[in-house]
Amino acid sequence: MSFCFNFPNPEADNENQYEKTGSISTEKESPDQDEEEIPAIEMKLDWKHLTPCKNPNTIAYDFNETSTLVSISPKHLEIILKENSENSEITPLKEALQNQCDLIPNKYEGGLQIWECSIDLTKYISNQMLSGSSVAEIGCGAGLPGLCALKKGASTVLFQDFNSEVLTKLTLPNILLNCYEERERCYLFSGDWGSLPQAVNHSTISLQKFDIILTAETIYNTKNYQKLINIFDFLLKENGYILIAAKNYYFGVGGGTRQFEESLKEDGRFTSSVCWTKADGLSREIICAQRKKT
Ligand SMILES: C[S@@+](CC[C@H](N)C(=O)[O-])C[C@H]1O[C@@H](n2cnc3c(N)ncnc32)[C@H](O)[C@@H]1O
Repeated sequence: MSFCFNFPNPEADNENQYEKTGSISTEKESPDQDEEEIPAIEMKLDWKHLTPCKNPNTIAYDFNETSTLVSISPKHLEIILKENSENSEITPLKEALQNQCDLIPNKYEGGLQIWECSIDLTKYISNQMLSGSSVAEIGCGAGLPGLCALKKGASTVLFQDFNSEVLTKLTLPNILLNCYEERERCYLFSGDWGSLPQAVNHSTISLQKFDIILTAETIYNTKNYQKLINIFDFLLKENGYILIAAKNYYFGVGGGTRQFEESLKEDGRFTSSVCWTKADGLSREIICAQRKKT
């Protein structure tokens, strides 16, 4: 049995509206915390010799009058992965697609889709000054917020996703399509949040502390909150800030923005406040967190 983000998506047939909306229902509990973690690793890339895909099937997103980003179409990727699934190894992404699941805990964490809060976060940062800032996008999937930061002059962007296949099939092609000139400022990490600090410690990246941490649709599972908060503590500069874009409540899982703020408060290392709310309702927010001043 699988754990699915299964919800009605009336726009699913419209390629430009492929972002995932709605809430989460569960068919299975998340795995125990002591289940073996996929170790975090840096994806070492020969940036000089990488070129953008030819004739990619993309979707364009306009974030404000001056910034547009394109993403490899998740729908197209699904078709390709399904076509290839008969004669090749079954990967976590193919398994998720075959079972029509948006998520299989601890195997595939939903990075192939473009979720609506990542659009909210990208719009939000498209109006901010980011030039010269070092940025980490945690749970990036397509990586639109990180790409926006790069386009706006971020000095370095670390992209992290659970699945290396998401990084190679979606994040990396998107970097090459949108930010070819800036590609050597990017660092990619796959694997579980639990071991990301060690992977960053042993990586080629020259910095370990970032001005800004971005993350969208990553707080659905309360079991991962402490790992996320530890990552924030490990990666954030003293005066840096974190932007967390998420739904107020993920039905069936129990996570959500209030729950996460509560965990931040209990942990005691960060303060937080809501800096953006969806105008026509209270279902989506962006939380800004900073280190507690001593
Ligand atoms: C629902 S997807 C969101 C993707 C993207 N941010 C968006 O909004 O379109 C959740 C992301 O969180 C990350 N994630 C979830 N649990 C994780 C874990 N235990 N370790 C590492 N990454 C995890 C995965 O990389 C996955 O892409």
